[in-house]
Amino acid sequence: MRVAIVTGGSRGIGRALAEELAKKGFKVGIVSRHPEGAVKSFQEMGLPAFPVAVDLEKDPPEKVVDLALAEGDIHALIHAAGINVRKPALELSYEEWRRVLYLHLDVAFLLAKAVAPHMACVGWGRILFIGSVTTFTSGGPVPIPAYVSAKTGLLGLTRALAKEWAPLGIRVNLLCPGYVQTDFTAPVWSNPDLYQAITSRIPVGRWASPGEIAKVGALLCTEDMDYVTGTTVVVDGGFLSY
Ligand SMILES: NC(=O)c1ccc[n+]([C@@H]2O[C@H](COP(=O)([O-])OP(=O)(O)OC[C@H]3O[C@@H](n4cnc5c(N)ncnc54)[C@H](OP(=O)(O)O)[C@@H]3O)[C@@H](O)[C@H]2O)c1
Repeated sequence: MRVAIVTGGSRGIGRALAEELAKKGFKVGIVSRHPEGAVKSFQEMGLPAFPVAVDLEKDPPEKVVDLALAEGDIHALIHAAGINVRKPALELSYEEWRRVLYLHLDVAFLLAKAVAPHMACVGWGRILFIGSVTTFTSGGPVPIPAYVSAKTGLLGLTRALAKEWAPLGIRVNLLCPGYVQTDFTAPVWSNPDLYQAITSRIPVGRWASPGEIAKVGALLCTEDMDYVTGTTVVVDGGFLSY
């Protein structure tokens, strides 16, 4: 069975992506500090999943690949783990900047670098990074300079790796969700003024569910997407075209 690794697979968008991949026949490694709950509920649904318990801020990303290889050949990698520090640049410490950049961008590079040789061996691979509408904007009403920089950096990484690894059968793309109600965005959607300010700019008139993002993301990891690489797929209810 083809193995997929999904960081952030315990909750939110990552979990929905993991579920969609499992429905498409992948055996999914749920990468998180606490993957057991998600794995148990996947198994209760009859979906193949296994835990990869790591703290990506502390453990080397290569450990994820080593643990997943014990389950089979890795065919897909999705990096959806994320954190944010919502502060204006003048109040943001270098440590906070590095923390956000590290988890979103450095870990994306290190995971991809660790997994690509194995995908090259089987001649097939799908790598999906998770950007954001902030890949293309200043970040909206709440200042998030490190997050915006990391998400924009992923655009460059996606293009560079897609070009280098296309001959190896590996496709690399960037999925950019709009606003999704998860734990991650709770500080925003729980504030009525912020929630209203953002929602009024979404032509579809509402935030997305994790499943709406995941259905598109999982498609990018299928056989049908062999000619899609180095590109960005935005799923934002029209936010960027407002
Ligand atoms: N929500 C949105 O509106 C939105 C929009 C655009 C892009 N995104 C992006 O989508 C991705 C997922 O966001 P989300 O909203 O689904 O977030 P979420 O619900 O808060 O989930 C975050 C995930 O990251 C994992 N994680 C965080 N720190 C980790 C660490 N040190 N080691 C291992 N895993 C860690 C968490 O796992 P554990 O806590 O179990 O370790 C959890 O599974 C992020 O990259 C985010 O930037 C979100």
